[in-house]
Amino acid sequence: MRGCDMACALCHNSPTMPRKQTDENPFFDPFGKLALMAKTASSHGMTDHRFQRVLIVGASGGIGQALAEHYALGGAAITRLSRRNTGFDLTDPDGVEAQLGALAGPFDLIIVATGALEIEGVGPEKSLSQVNADALARQFAVNAIGPALILRHVPRLMDRQGAGVCAVLSARVGSIGDNRAGGWYGYRAAKAAVNQIVRTGSIELARSHKGAALIALHPGTVRTKFTENYLGRHPAVAPEEAAANIARVLAEIGPAQTGQFFDWKGEAVPW
Ligand SMILES: NC(=O)c1ccc[n+]([C@@H]2O[C@H](COP(=O)([O-])OP(=O)(O)OC[C@H]3O[C@@H](n4cnc5c(N)ncnc54)[C@H](OP(=O)(O)O)[C@@H]3O)[C@@H](O)[C@H]2O)c1
Repeated sequence: MRGCDMACALCHNSPTMPRKQTDENPFFDPFGKLALMAKTASSHGMTDHRFQRVLIVGASGGIGQALAEHYALGGAAITRLSRRNTGFDLTDPDGVEAQLGALAGPFDLIIVATGALEIEGVGPEKSLSQVNADALARQFAVNAIGPALILRHVPRLMDRQGAGVCAVLSARVGSIGDNRAGGWYGYRAAKAAVNQIVRTGSIELARSHKGAALIALHPGTVRTKFTENYLGRHPAVAPEEAAANIARVLAEIGPAQTGQFFDWKGEAVPW
């Protein structure tokens, strides 16, 4: 497993010791109040019938695919974009423009489920000495600029009179205030950047779409291709469970929550 040798900037325990679940673990979600989730789980069941027209960008990913299936099972019409299946490449601005521009909408729910930790074989940096200009640029291209190019289309793809929700999958490690473990310079910085783009976009969206919401969302630690080299013994949930968790949070999102950063339990994450 990568990221857990003695030189690891993220793990403060010996590689032979089970790691403690602390905020030092970048995948860690502190156990906390589950009241909101319990309430939403019972009042909404597995899905929200507000979301009948759903766009999933990154529908080939572990979480994206599970979300598409989750909402499809609830009867929603799903539009799926992905690099693997529709040639949707975030690093190709003209291609992003062409595929998003071809959609008419309106959508009740748009989820940006793309993202990468390891890009072109380069994993997250453990120290400043590993910071590399090209790798940093690729992190920003995939995790910040790509989602921004998608968000360009969100006002057009949502009903101005509706109660649409757009969620961008971010990561708790993108939180500046919650960064206690260090490391992962490029990924952290790119997720912090996308958080700012989401926040800024939400302010603009609120002017034209008064019932809508645009949020950043930490999906929790999920067993997908994304985490396969980094999980080790960190607890993680299956994509289907992550999708159900995310759906329960999204069911509670409205204009009062726009511009915020939530985790999979519906708790606010500090910026
Ligand atoms: N898994 C976790 O524990 C975890 C924790 C915190 C945050 N997140 C966030 O959750 C999101 C989804 O993660 P995941 O676990 O579902 O990852 P995943 O299974 O690796 O899926 C990643 C998705 O992003 C797409 N993608 C990557 N680079 C792309 C590019 N250049 N252009 C277009 N699409 C690209 C992939 O497309 P193809 O497969 O078609 O190439 C795939 O659809 C990411 O934003 C990640 O940062 C995940």
